[in-house]
Amino acid sequence: LFKNVKKLPSDALFAIKARLAVDTRSAKVDLGIGAYRDNNGKPWILPSVKRAEEIIKADPEYNHEYLNISGLEVLRKNAARIIFGDSFDLANRVVNIQSLSGTGALHVGAKLMQVLNLNERDIYFSDPTWGNHYQIFQKSGFSNTKTYPYWDAASKKLNLTGFLNTIKSAVTGSIFVLHPCAHNPTGLDPTQEQWKVILEAIKEKQHLVLFDSAYQGFATGSLSKDAYSIRLAITDILKDVPVLVCQSFAKNVGMYGERVGCFHVVLPETGYNAEDKDAIQSQLNAITRSELSTPPAYGAKIVATILSSDELYKAWSDDMITMSSRIYEMRHKLVAKLVELKTPGTWDHITTQVGMFSYTGLTEEQVARMEKEHAVYLASSGRASIAGLNDGNVEHVAYAIDEVVRH
Ligand code: LMR
Repeated sequence: LFKNVKKLPSDALFAIKARLAVDTRSAKVDLGIGAYRDNNGKPWILPSVKRAEEIIKADPEYNHEYLNISGLEVLRKNAARIIFGDSFDLANRVVNIQSLSGTGALHVGAKLMQVLNLNERDIYFSDPTWGNHYQIFQKSGFSNTKTYPYWDAASKKLNLTGFLNTIKSAVTGSIFVLHPCAHNPTGLDPTQEQWKVILEAIKEKQHLVLFDSAYQGFATGSLSKDAYSIRLAITDILKDVPVLVCQSFAKNVGMYGERVGCFHVVLPETGYNAEDKDAIQSQLNAITRSELSTPPAYGAKIVATILSSDELYKAWSDDMITMSSRIYEMRHKLVAKLVELKTPGTWDHITTQVGMFSYTGLTEEQVARMEKEHAVYLASSGRASIAGLNDGNVEHVAYAIDEVVRH
């Protein structure tokens, strides 16, 4: 027993973190894992989060009791409100559960589909996608994982034709995992017009959509704009079918390690009654009870406090602008320096991409040399977390790119 166990490779993103931790070069730059850093390269506790923590701890009723199995009610309600919109019929159309951030939400979604025998269906991820998508679904019994074309390397644009052809040729009723905004890893989002065409094609083939929303607020700085594709689906194009939504608060509240999120089943406008909702809720609860017992409370209380107070909500909106505009500025500074250096190639895709990441177009060899020779760490796919750039390192990164591209 437990002999000859197959050793698996380390997680690629966390392996970067581990190599970086032991690198003694003072000029090292972390563009690996997607986590926001301030202009000094330090983790940033959002002022709205600090204030919420003070409020929670000042409450004489503050304690560390269990939450309900389905999580903190005020979090679930407000989480649904910010992603689906103030006027959406939450009471009748949403069944949800608190989850261990976005990964936990994906896992609950996968498990629910497994319970309903939907894991036999083909499941499509964007090419490329966040690497963890594959193992989350494979470990829940999805053996038919497939891809739809997304990033066109030559034009550095969306391969819309390929995407649509795959939607059309997929077996009717397949599952499509979509990134609603700030696509990870490419930073490339469909336009509003493209979303319409994509969702119409999906509707035509009766595919089931699962939105993985990990970066709401990071693409445009606006929660509602970043929820455009989801709202278009649930209020319009896919309003007659169920839609699944995974929601993470790791990035937009900057509480990476606290694991706050929600999994939502959005039901069609008609055809589902209270009993159907109760039954779905009971399945979600059973999944959580068997795996976590109850979801973690501390981070949930912080996010719930922010979302349910007008004053803190406003402060949080400002915090998101702070983060998204600093990233925007860094994209421009990096490109300006590359242009000044006359670095071979075109670099404007870095400024048109949105969210935390840029798919730089650097090759695996170039990325390896960035790390070895310049102490600049990024994913081997060429994905850079722009949030790791700051005024103190952006020029160093530009010189490093320039050097590896030329030699
Ligand atoms: C990333 O893609 O860097 C983040 O989503 C962090 C993670 O858990 O992979």
